[in-house]
Amino acid sequence: MFDHGKLERNSILLVIGILVVVSIGGIIEIAPLFYLESTIEKVKGVRPYTPLELAGRNIYIREGCYNCHSQMVRPFRDELERYGHYSLAAESMYDHPFQWGSKRTGPDLARVGGKYSDEWHRAHMHDPRSLVPESVMPGYPFLAENEVRSFDIADHLKANKAIGVPYTTEMIEVAVTDMMAQADPDHDGADAVAERYPGANVRDFDGKPGNPTELDALIAYLQVLGTMVDFSSYNADENLR
Ligand code: HEC
Repeated sequence: MFDHGKLERNSILLVIGILVVVSIGGIIEIAPLFYLESTIEKVKGVRPYTPLELAGRNIYIREGCYNCHSQMVRPFRDELERYGHYSLAAESMYDHPFQWGSKRTGPDLARVGGKYSDEWHRAHMHDPRSLVPESVMPGYPFLAENEVRSFDIADHLKANKAIGVPYTTEMIEVAVTDMMAQADPDHDGADAVAERYPGANVRDFDGKPGNPTELDALIAYLQVLGTMVDFSSYNADENLR
């Protein structure tokens, strides 16, 4: 029999023993994950963000909206009644980093897409208290004045692609054109955006002609949140791709 007393009286031996035992446990837990194609079940309708939506997401992160807003509806009755269907893992599979958050000074935004008109968002982002007098949310009037950053949007797509978001080479090449076209229904490339990104909203989000602003991007992003999966026909077993 192994001399247990020796092991317990020699700290170096004990540490080595612990390391061996813990790594066996660790390997058993972690190794199978490398053989699974994905740990997230794919769900119909979930697609990568358009360049404009992705730019809006970057603004959301830059402005720290996550400090007051979560993006995850939990499967509790009060949340389902207030926000709608609980969030599926697949709905944030292309979010790097995810925006689930844990702080709700304001409401959860996981399903805010389509809840309000673009016009409502414009007024709300400009001055939240013009619509909700008791709101503590700051206004972001400068977003409507700033042109959206387009020079590095292709690189953002590329970076997302490197970590598994299925952007194609074509999507990366035409990222800037797609970005301009999504905020301008009269643009020559408007139809192509909707084809490349099924279900994408193509319209003038900020209500101002000309190049897209940061407000265009942010509203495009807010309006797509939680709308990619069609929950009227969602069935947990059938909707797996
Ligand atoms: C200091 C906290 C705070 C910050 C920061 C903040 N919000 Fe809010 N937000 C709120 C509160 C409180 C409400 C609820 C009252 C209202 O509608 O203004 C709200 C409401 C909203 C709503 C309406 C949600 C609904 O379902 O009615 C949207 C959309 C929104 N915020 C977007 C944003 C975006 C985008 C940013 C970042 C640019 C942001 N918020 C930053 C506190 C915040």
